[in-house]
Amino acid sequence: MQIAQTILREELVVFEKKFREAVKSQTPLLDRIMRFIVNRKGKQLRPMFVFLSAKLCGPVNESTYRAASLVELLHTATLVHDDVVDESLERRGFFSTYALWKNKVSVLVGDYLLAKGLLLSLDHDDFRILQLLSGAVRKMSEGELLQIEKARSLNLDEAVYFEIIRNKTASLLASSCAAGAYSSCGDEKLTEKLGKFGEAVGIAFQIKDDLFDYGNEQTGKPSGNDLKEKKLTLPLIYTLNKVGNPLRRELIYIIKNQNRNPEKVRYVIGRVKEAGGIHYATEKMNQYRDEAMTLLYEFQDSEVRKGLEELVRFTTDRKF
Ligand code: IPE
Ligand code: IPE
Ligand code: MG
Ligand code: MG
Repeated sequence: MQIAQTILREELVVFEKKFREAVKSQTPLLDRIMRFIVNRKGKQLRPMFVFLSAKLCGPVNESTYRAASLVELLHTATLVHDDVVDESLERRGFFSTYALWKNKVSVLVGDYLLAKGLLLSLDHDDFRILQLLSGAVRKMSEGELLQIEKARSLNLDEAVYFEIIRNKTASLLASSCAAGAYSSCGDEKLTEKLGKFGEAVGIAFQIKDDLFDYGNEQTGKPSGNDLKEKKLTLPLIYTLNKVGNPLRRELIYIIKNQNRNPEKVRYVIGRVKEAGGIHYATEKMNQYRDEAMTLLYEFQDSEVRKGLEELVRFTTDRKF
């Protein structure tokens, strides 16, 4: 991510400071957990999308910084909650908040981060930006709930899968780009355009994340967790629709009843690979990557545009 990091060198240093400041708490336990969280920061992709989208449309200003902090606060809140929902013990190469402090604390920590984000915006009258991001939070909850519903019934087609990931993941990337654009120019047309761009990136991003679950690479979080949680993602949906009845029934039986058995899970992964599910999902991901690029090419060539192109490519080529 060299181009993006070079363009944003100064912004990212200032951002880190502001973000740390934004999560401070007077409550000892909360403050300890907040320090744990900021010391294990993630890729910070969403703040980078905020800053670059802003720069594509006008000069970065204080409201851009607040938008970046808000986005990362909301993202962090949803990760803390998501690991409770998914019973996932690993995050960013270490124990998750859920693993260390369990359900009760994690639920409250997520709420705290969410409230900090709301206050950051409201204290500065960033109403439009807060509106953009609140829409994303609503969609994220809807996406995660639809996913739970479908994990229970195990009936899922491609259209529903895309609805889930559009809501749970792409909405936040979309509003990151939209909020960035709005912060620097206040122009609604550009805000919408960057929002569409972010949505395409976000869909590609989640397909990539779902592909990680089928791999053995060290990504900083567990693989095979989706099957354990009966989450049907694109590689498996494709496979279930493609294979004959007996194998389909066998796979569904395993996902339903033997999803905690590592050998059985490996068997499912093997069949998915054989059926071309990984290949199919990769192609779909690349389609969304290309759609994002096409939207980007409507803007004049510039260093900032190159930075965004690089982030899009990173989304699909990344190893973590
Ligand atoms: C993880 O997002 C959550 C998903 C939407 C798949 P990231 O992979 O951007 O998480 P961090 O912030 O870099 O850890
Ligand atoms: C959830 O997707 C993304 C969020 C909305 C938090 P996943 O459950 O696949 O994300 P990871 O793999 O735990 O990061
Ligand atoms: Mg998860
Ligand atoms: Mg995942």
